[in-house]
Amino acid sequence: MLERSELADNALQALHDEDYDRPFNTQNLNADTLIFTRGRQGQSLDGDWNFCVDLLDTGLRQKWFAMTPEAPEDRIEPWDYDPYMGETVPVPSCWQMQKEKWYFFEGSAWYTRPLTHDPVPGRRQVLRIGAAQYDCKVFLNGAFLGNHYGGSTPFCVELTEALKPGQNWLMLCVNNTRTRDRVPMRNTDWFNYGGVYREVTLYDLPSVVIRDLFVRLEGNAIRVSVAVDGACASARFSIPELGIDTELPLIAGKGDVTLAASPELWSPDNPKLYDVSLTAGEDQVQDRVGFRSISREGTEILLNGKPLFLRGISVHEDDATQGKVTSETDIRRRFAHAKELGCNFLRLAHYPHHERAAEIADEMGLMLWEEVPVYWAIDFSNPATRRDAENQLRELIRRDRNRASVIIWSVGNENPDTDARLDFMRGLADLAKAEDPTRLTSAACLVNHAKLKIEDRLAEHIDVIGLNEYYGWYEENFDELGEIGRNSAPDRPVVISETGADGDSTEHGPERGLFSLAYQDEVYAKQIATLRALDYVKGMSPWILYDFRVERRQGIFQRGWNRKGLIAGDKATKKPAFHRLAAYYAERAAVEHQPPLAPEETA
Ligand code: GCU
Repeated sequence: MLERSELADNALQALHDEDYDRPFNTQNLNADTLIFTRGRQGQSLDGDWNFCVDLLDTGLRQKWFAMTPEAPEDRIEPWDYDPYMGETVPVPSCWQMQKEKWYFFEGSAWYTRPLTHDPVPGRRQVLRIGAAQYDCKVFLNGAFLGNHYGGSTPFCVELTEALKPGQNWLMLCVNNTRTRDRVPMRNTDWFNYGGVYREVTLYDLPSVVIRDLFVRLEGNAIRVSVAVDGACASARFSIPELGIDTELPLIAGKGDVTLAASPELWSPDNPKLYDVSLTAGEDQVQDRVGFRSISREGTEILLNGKPLFLRGISVHEDDATQGKVTSETDIRRRFAHAKELGCNFLRLAHYPHHERAAEIADEMGLMLWEEVPVYWAIDFSNPATRRDAENQLRELIRRDRNRASVIIWSVGNENPDTDARLDFMRGLADLAKAEDPTRLTSAACLVNHAKLKIEDRLAEHIDVIGLNEYYGWYEENFDELGEIGRNSAPDRPVVISETGADGDSTEHGPERGLFSLAYQDEVYAKQIATLRALDYVKGMSPWILYDFRVERRQGIFQRGWNRKGLIAGDKATKKPAFHRLAAYYAERAAVEHQPPLAPEETA
């Protein structure tokens, strides 16, 4: 009779224990365990990892993470998977796009790879995962190091204590199940991809580590805030091009200084960036930062004190072949199409996009709305849900608050106006201001259809009212839009964060009526004609640049895709409505860039 390890007894026990996963949900990998990574050279752990789907969490029950490499014929427990053999997937990737059999898979999946380590006394090893959808549990050599909640923000885990000299085994258990308490909840109008779909990097660090660096314009000065982990009395900050090179005292690892400076201001027409550097002990990071101010006065949005109109478009992270994996090429194509449309602004919906998006927008001079996926129905009364949403917002802000292109943090999309929602989202808006008082806050709100007004109790707690309205599509009485416009007198700027219509540009598309290209174009014509008359509307980001994949749309003209794109899912075929919007934006841009009238001209 083969001897069984106590592992087997535990595994047997787990068959009857439905709380088996509770010990693995600490959510200890969060905004507070992030390290600042820009300017660092890390070791890429991208590439092929061993992979296995695990719908019933057999891996946590049988403790696959505790298995060690062994010849199959020598094993003494007949486990149902061997983490060291079998199928592989590339990291980063979405498993749905790897094999047809995984297209609709929703559950846990295991990633395993070796990791060689040559210990050096005093050095620290920190792993950073760019994003894993949704819950990612980290195991090293059989030890559970923690888990992260949130499908679109980076997280870090220190491996130092669990690493051993020579070969180690790193395992991730990623679960993308939609549930009532997650953010977003279980009903979204975008595809529920799963997997480790952004880069994985291992950083070899000194004992003192820079966790955060926040650099921004504050009035006519530059404010620098740093956080350092480890015994260090001061840090050195420099912006050579501005002649800044200064020592920051650190108290309990925190440093904050305001420096007199007159940097060239960042703007879409002049996306000026400065190289900044921070050293603490032996650790050093760099960044490229643009300095600008964004504010609101009454219903105006002001960039560097000048009113502007946000000529925007909404975008998802979605690709016909890559799913939610986005590359530099994909981002640059997205932004090039936006510029071709005449945009100076994009709404990165409905979750934090890849960090390269804001870095490239900094360079290209595009302004961004970034948001957390507090989308539609959320378990607003659940403290755990609130903690999850707040952490995702903190992680987004700490990741991107050095990005001049980001001008708006949005805390939600199309949420029901209930007391619980108001408390939850007001809390998020206040958190955004506490983390970063230099940017505007918003949320994509809904029209108050009962009163036919732009009215939402959240509006007084955000700087910019985002408004999603689909007159001509979901709302068939188009005349109501004009009535709403006349009935409303918001005291702050409104950005039409969504409007649009489907247009099926494939051979299946109808010649006329709903889902035809002609109808989509007609909706844009009527929307533009109505919205241009509302002087408190200071921007728009119609829905959406590209058609995108979604499970819930199986109509004969949708076939698994939302076809409201101005460009088809091939990211090449432009629809008539693209040109309609481009013409309007060109008109607006011409007015904005008109030289100010000479006094005699205004007499
Ligand atoms: C909603 C929602 C989007 C959705 C869109 C649509 O407003 O915010 O996520 O894709 O409308 O119905 O196409």
